[in-house]
Amino acid sequence: MFSLELKSSRETEHLGQLLGSLLQPGDIITLNGELGAGKTCLAKGIANGLGIAGHITSPTFTLINEYPGKIPLYHMDVYRLGSPGEFEDLGYEEYFYGSGVTLIEWAGLVEEYLPPNRLDIFINKPAGKDECRQVHFVAYGSRFTHMIKELKQFVRSGD
Ligand SMILES: Nc1ncnc2c1ncn2[C@@H]1O[C@H](COP(=O)(O)OP(=O)(O)OP(=O)(O)O)[C@@H](O)[C@H]1O
Ligand SMILES: [Mg+2]
Repeated sequence: MFSLELKSSRETEHLGQLLGSLLQPGDIITLNGELGAGKTCLAKGIANGLGIAGHITSPTFTLINEYPGKIPLYHMDVYRLGSPGEFEDLGYEEYFYGSGVTLIEWAGLVEEYLPPNRLDIFINKPAGKDECRQVHFVAYGSRFTHMIKELKQFVRSGD
C-alpha cells in the first residue's frame, strides 16, 4: 500500500502519465472513488503516458472506449451497468486478456469478475479542500508490487 497527496488536477494527470509509462499489455487497473473524485482525470494522464494521441473522453454512457496505440487502451466506466452480469455480455475477457491496458472506473460494481493480478487505485476527496486528492495504491501480484516500488522511487526523486 502506498499513498500520495495530489494538489491539483494537473498533478493527478502527471501521476497518471508516469504510471502510463510503466504499463505493459495485459495490465489491469481499477479506478475507485466517488463521483468527481478524479478517476477520468487520472485515466487521461495514463493515456498520455501510454503515448495515445487524441482526446480522452469519459466512457460513462458508452461503457468502453477503445484507443489504438503501440499499447492499446481500453477505458471502461461501469457505473451505468444495469447488473454485474451485463459485464459478461460486454465481452470483458477479450479486453482483460487482450493486447492492451484496461482501466476500469467504478470497478467495485464488477468485483467478482476482476482478475487476481491487478492494481487498485482509490481516490479520496478530503472535505473542504476543493483541489486536493488522496490517492492510495493497492497492488496484487508481483508485477504491480514491483511497479509501485518503482513509482515510489520516481515520486521521491521528484520526477
Ligand atoms: N487534484 C485533482 N485531481 C483530479 N481532479 C481534480 C483535482 N482537483 C480538482 N479536480 C476536478 O475534479 C473533477 C474530477 O472529474 P473526473 O471526471 O476525473 O471524476 P471521476 O472520478 O471520473 O467522476 P465520475 O465518477 O463521474 O466518472 C474535474 O472537474 C477536475 O478538474
Ligand atoms: Mg469518470
